[in-house]
Amino acid sequence: MTAIVIAGGRVVDQNGDRPADVLVDDGVVKAVGDKLRMPGADTIDASGCVVAPGFVDLHTHLREPGHEEAETIETGSRAAALGGYTAVVAMPNTDPAADSRAVVDFVRAAGERAGLCDVRPSGCITVGRAGERLAPFGELVEAGVRIFTDDGAGVQDPQLMRRAMEYSTGLDMVLAQHCEVSALTRGAVMHEGRCCSELGVPGWPALAEELMVHRDIELARLTGARIHVLHLSTAGSVELVRRAKADGLPVTAEATPHHLSLTDEQLRSFDATYKVNPPLRTMADIEALVAGLADGTIDAIATDHAPHPADHKERPLDEAPPGMVGLETALGVCLPILSDAGMSLVDIVAALSWKPAAIARLDEEHGRALEPGAPANLVVFDPAAEWEVVPARLASRSHNTPFAGRPLRGRVRHTLLHGVATVDTGTATR
Ligand code: DOR
Repeated sequence: MTAIVIAGGRVVDQNGDRPADVLVDDGVVKAVGDKLRMPGADTIDASGCVVAPGFVDLHTHLREPGHEEAETIETGSRAAALGGYTAVVAMPNTDPAADSRAVVDFVRAAGERAGLCDVRPSGCITVGRAGERLAPFGELVEAGVRIFTDDGAGVQDPQLMRRAMEYSTGLDMVLAQHCEVSALTRGAVMHEGRCCSELGVPGWPALAEELMVHRDIELARLTGARIHVLHLSTAGSVELVRRAKADGLPVTAEATPHHLSLTDEQLRSFDATYKVNPPLRTMADIEALVAGLADGTIDAIATDHAPHPADHKERPLDEAPPGMVGLETALGVCLPILSDAGMSLVDIVAALSWKPAAIARLDEEHGRALEPGAPANLVVFDPAAEWEVVPARLASRSHNTPFAGRPLRGRVRHTLLHGVATVDTGTATR
């Protein structure tokens, strides 16, 4: 393994933001300091760039097994590496769903074979995500699963959710909820509000999310379970999580790049690229999400990378599946919004890296401060680079990005996984 000197950059991690070189050898950080050199080492010129712990995505749909026409573990891992990610949590709504050791072992092994990013399978809360019987938590925890979710759907039955929380407290796991009361969203295609009334299409009320956020917070209070709220999208949800944290409950939350940047107005085009679950909301919701990230109510940025083939997304709005790809654009979308809101680079990288790493219990290996001995899972990005995404050039097998034609700022140049480049000068190495 060739040693690498990352020279002339600005190191941003838990220890702050300062100019420093980083020497990587044998898969770990060997030194951080001034003018580091090593004979025979490769050099990465990081001038003008940030050198940080690699990003960790809590919410990636890799689609394999079962929907390889949309994405494979390999293509999704490549997209992740290009987005600066060194670890992703793979969502369990595959076919078959990740409710057994066989499926999670398959996903992890395929991730290892691809070798582009650490793929950590999540497990279902209920068997087949059907919302009826609890999945075998003990077996899945033993297989290394730490995040459990029925994502794509919320667990509707409060009694079953209570039981899930009770069981979870004895295990090293977190229950991550897709908060949606489905009785309130049947047939809905977009956020319920002015735009939706004007278009005359069925709406998805904010309350459908907030009721379940509230229910789960109260169940967590009752049971002591650790919960994580997936893709928070409304101002009301942010406030509920803020109060839960103030009460000292073990609740964490994430927001997606698209909910931080796009509103329901996009649906006036009737373009299903903008259809997503939960739906794009209003500017007031965006402001609340940004404020929530800035004050730490929302812990993490998570992509909800949801690839769908073009012929599915080209269907009419009511028939098209919800979801958008997001791994390759997350940094470029979020960096300008969050820096304009006054967040420091340290806080922005925290939300992309070490905070999600801690939630997923990946913090031994990912999101570590750049100190001697830390695994060299790193990203080098240019925070000033302005660029536009070209959908056809995405590494993801599906190109359903809502960000084409929009100015992005912040671009990944290099990603290192255990000291080996997965991305070199903006190009995937394999
Ligand atoms: O928009 C979404 N797409 N939200 C989800 O919760 C599921 C995801 C998918 O799997 O396509």
